[in-house]
Amino acid sequence: MADGAAAPPEQIVYVVDFGAQYAQLIARRVRDLNVYSEIVPHTITAEELAAKNPAALILSGGPKSVRVEGAPELDPAIYDLGLPTLGICYGAQLLAKQLGGEVSRFDQGEYGRTAVTRNTAVSSDSPGRLLADLPSEYSVWMSHFDAISAPPEGATTTASTASAPVAAFEDVDRQIYGVQYHPEVVHSEHGQAIMEKFLLGEAGLSPDWTMGSIIESAVEAIREQVGDGRAICGLSGGVDSAVAAALVHKAIGPRLTCVYVDTGLMRLNESDQVVETFQRHQGIELVHVRAAERFFEGLAGTSEPEAKRKIIGELFIRVFEEAAGGLDDADFLVQGTLYSDVVESGTGDTTATIKSHHNVGGLPDDLQFDLVEPLRNLFKDEVRRVGSELGLPDEIVWRQPFPGPGLGVRIIGEVTPDKVHILQQADAIVRQEIKGAGLEREIFQSFAVLADIRTVGVMGDERTYAHPIIIRAVNSDDVMTADWARLPYDLMETMSSRIINEVEGVNRVAYDITSKPPGTIEWE
Ligand code: XMP
Repeated sequence: MADGAAAPPEQIVYVVDFGAQYAQLIARRVRDLNVYSEIVPHTITAEELAAKNPAALILSGGPKSVRVEGAPELDPAIYDLGLPTLGICYGAQLLAKQLGGEVSRFDQGEYGRTAVTRNTAVSSDSPGRLLADLPSEYSVWMSHFDAISAPPEGATTTASTASAPVAAFEDVDRQIYGVQYHPEVVHSEHGQAIMEKFLLGEAGLSPDWTMGSIIESAVEAIREQVGDGRAICGLSGGVDSAVAAALVHKAIGPRLTCVYVDTGLMRLNESDQVVETFQRHQGIELVHVRAAERFFEGLAGTSEPEAKRKIIGELFIRVFEEAAGGLDDADFLVQGTLYSDVVESGTGDTTATIKSHHNVGGLPDDLQFDLVEPLRNLFKDEVRRVGSELGLPDEIVWRQPFPGPGLGVRIIGEVTPDKVHILQQADAIVRQEIKGAGLEREIFQSFAVLADIRTVGVMGDERTYAHPIIIRAVNSDDVMTADWARLPYDLMETMSSRIINEVEGVNRVAYDITSKPPGTIEWE
C-alpha cells in the first residue's frame, strides 16, 4: 500500500454509514472481536462493494426516518451479492423497507433503556439463531420513532418490545438479520454477544485480526513503501506520533530519524521523557531542537487566542523545516494519522472553525516528502495496544490528549516563561493527584489553566495578590461533546491546598464546571 498502512486482511466486514455517529462504534466493536472492519458511505454501489470482496455487511443506524422522501437507501443490487447482512436500527428498518417488509409510524417512539422480549417460540436452529442463547427478556438501548411493522419477506420476527412489534428479525436462508436496537452501545445487554454470534457464528468469520498480525503486516507494508529510503518523523510526545515512530523504527531501524521540537510549552519534564524514551530506550536517532526562546520571543506581547495559535503553528513549521532541511536525504515523512481522522475528513461535512487546530499533521504541502501513515487503519485504543506491544511506556501510551500549541493555550493572556513555569508546577500536581486517585485513564482529560489576572488573598498574616489556577477535568467520547468530571471533593481539596502551598505565584484555585458545548475543553 502506498501510504505504509498495513495491507487490510482478507476478511473485511464493511459497516455502511447512514450518517449517525454510531458507525465508528460499530466498526470498533467488530474489531474487538478480532475481525477487521472498515466504514463505507451508504452511496456505495454494488459494483464498488463487490470489488472490495466483503465478508459481511453491517448497516448502521442513522438520524433520518426511512419513511421520508430522500432518506438514504442502499443500492438494491447489493442485496443480490448474497452477503451476510446485519441491519441495526435505521439499517434494520431499511432492510424491512427494501426487502418487502413494512415500516410504520407508531404513536410512541422509544428512547433509551427498553425491555425486549425474545420470541422463544422460534427454534434455536432455524430463525432465532442470533438471539438463541439470550434470556427471554433483557434490556437494550433504543432510539427510534418509526418501527418495523412487518419484517422483510421470508424473515421471522425474533423479538419485540412494548412499542416495536418487530424488534428483531432473521432470514437464515438469505443471511439477513435485523435488530431495531443498538447492540454496539454498552447500555444494551448482550449487545456484543449478538455481534459475535452474527460475525463468528452466522457469517462464519475467523477471529484472526490480532495485535501480532497488525504489527507484522504494518512492518511489512512500511518496508515495501520505504524500500532503501530514509524517513523522518516529527514527535510531539503524544501517543499517535510515538507509536507511528516505533512501528517505522521496527521496520527500517536506523533509517528513521525523529525530530522533537521543544517549544518550551510542554508540560513539566515532558521533553526529558520524550528524549529518554526514544533515544535511550527505543534507540531511535533523535534530533532534539531546543526552540523555547524563539517561541517566547514570538509570543511576546500577544494575548488574542487565535493570534497565539497562529504564531505557535507557524513557528513550529519553520523550526521543523529547518531541522528537516539538515536531513535532506530523507524522502519520507511519518505521520500518526488515525482511522478516525480518515473517516472524519472523508465525510465532506463542513463545520465552522471554532479553533484553528495545529499539530504535526499540519505541515505544509511544499515539504517534499511522501507520507508514511502506518496507523491509518487503526482506532486510538488499537494504537495504544500496538504501542504497549512495541514496548513504549505507559506514560506515553496512556497519555491524555494534549493540544499541539501546548501550554500556550492554557495560559489565558500573554505567554511568558514565568507563567509557563507556574502552570507546569500546578499542572504536575493536578496530574499526580488524578493519577494517585486512580482516575488517570478514566478521565478523558485533566489539566490546569492559568488566567492572566490576579486576585487578592491572605496567607499567614500577609495579603497576597497572585494568579488563580483553574482545574479542568472532562469526560468525552469523541471530543465534540464533553462533560465536566464529578471529581471527589477530597481530591479537589488536596489539589487546591497543594497548588497554593507548593506553587509560588498562585493564591486561588477554581474548578471549571462547564460542559462542551457551550464551553470548549481547552480555554483558548
Ligand atoms: P476543544 O478545546 O476544541 O478541544 O474542545 C478538543 C480536543 O482537541 C484538543 N486540541 C488540540 N489538539 N491541536 C491538537 O492536536 C490543537 O491545536 C488543539 N486544540 C485543542 C483538546 O486538547 C481536546 O482534546
